[in-house]
Amino acid sequence: MNILVSGGLGYIGSHTCVALLEAGHSVIIVDNLSNSKKETAEKIINITNKQVIFYEVDLTDDKAVSMIFDNHKIDGVIHFAALKAVGESIKKPIEYYYNNLVSTMVLVKYCLKYNVNKFVFSSSATVYGENRVPFNELMELFPTTNPYGETKVMSERILKDVAQANPMFSVSILRYFNPVGAHESGLIGESPNGIPNNLMPYITQVAKGKLKKLKVFGDNYPTVDGTGVRDFIHVVDLAEGHVAALNNLKKGVHIYNLGTGKGTSVLELINAFEEANGIKIPYEVVDRRPGDIAECYADVTKAYQELGWRASRDIFRMCKDAWNFEKNNSLDY
Ligand code: NAD
Ligand code: UD1
Repeated sequence: MNILVSGGLGYIGSHTCVALLEAGHSVIIVDNLSNSKKETAEKIINITNKQVIFYEVDLTDDKAVSMIFDNHKIDGVIHFAALKAVGESIKKPIEYYYNNLVSTMVLVKYCLKYNVNKFVFSSSATVYGENRVPFNELMELFPTTNPYGETKVMSERILKDVAQANPMFSVSILRYFNPVGAHESGLIGESPNGIPNNLMPYITQVAKGKLKKLKVFGDNYPTVDGTGVRDFIHVVDLAEGHVAALNNLKKGVHIYNLGTGKGTSVLELINAFEEANGIKIPYEVVDRRPGDIAECYADVTKAYQELGWRASRDIFRMCKDAWNFEKNNSLDY
């Protein structure tokens, strides 16, 4: 199939392009490079030995998106493009609502116009809010604590309404847990701008010496060792989950958790990283981060039953591949 991948040069999008190309699909990447680099397209080509088409286009630019649908026979869309920094979204709500919601609406509008009925959407476990773990897809959603999370809740709602009005439209909403790690080649991975907000990139930058020491946000949660527990999933497993979702699309809207189903605490992740890579990670415990929940992990039954997909890479592999990418990439990657 010819798949339009929005945000395809970003962290999860680039790994998914590799998985799609390896599964025999063609990809048309649309990205405005707001959080990615053009060279990533070359890296995807290097890894797969297959060509990709790239448009440097902002998805809120209605005319430019229309032109892409005019130029290509598109069979399906995977929509990754979004702004994703939680803290920034609190400071810049309009930018987040505008970018994330208008992008989704423009893409869906042209899918309907050009009879593209396959749509896969990047959502987040953040929509579960403070539900009881493990989170399953039938749970009622609680309000999130920030505009970023709300853009995911609202986009899910928009897609449900569109599918209801257009019975041929098939949507998979994928709720990601905590993607970490990198492609085994070390060519593509996560390279956040500035000081990382998320745990794994912070750890790899401490390992590299770019940052002095990790701050552990709270050790008095009601968890195994008092630190936060998350469902870390290898980004290549996540990428493969998209291929499975695309191959198993059904009419209407279907929601799937993409996680491992296993919770790992912050201290357990530090230990796993140290063991996997033989590097000490200095850390200190500080106050809780506002907005954090104690535990977040998935019930992954539905994705396995309906998509035949489950994550296979363990926490050591995640730590090894995350470090392999960090140490192979210069500061200005
Ligand atoms: P990323 O920032 O690496 O990738 C997003 C890409 O979209 C970037 O390349 C960016 O340049 C592009 N983009 C943003 N707005 C655009 C626009 N208007 N037009 C064109 N391109 C645009 O992020 P990621 O980690 O790969 O996340 C991908 C998706 O998954 C996002 O929707 C994100 O909200 C969601 N998600 C990510 C995580 C995570 O931990 N990384 C967790 C849950 C959900
Ligand atoms: C964050 C986002 C969430 C998003 C998810 C995946 C916030 C508040 N939430 O969630 O919306 O869906 O990423 O991208 O940003 N930690 C430390 N020290 C650090 C960084 C993190 O101790 O320097 C701890 C956190 O307190 C948490 C765990 O590590 O317990 C994971 O944090 P993080 O990687 O930021 O992911 P989430 O909090 O799950």
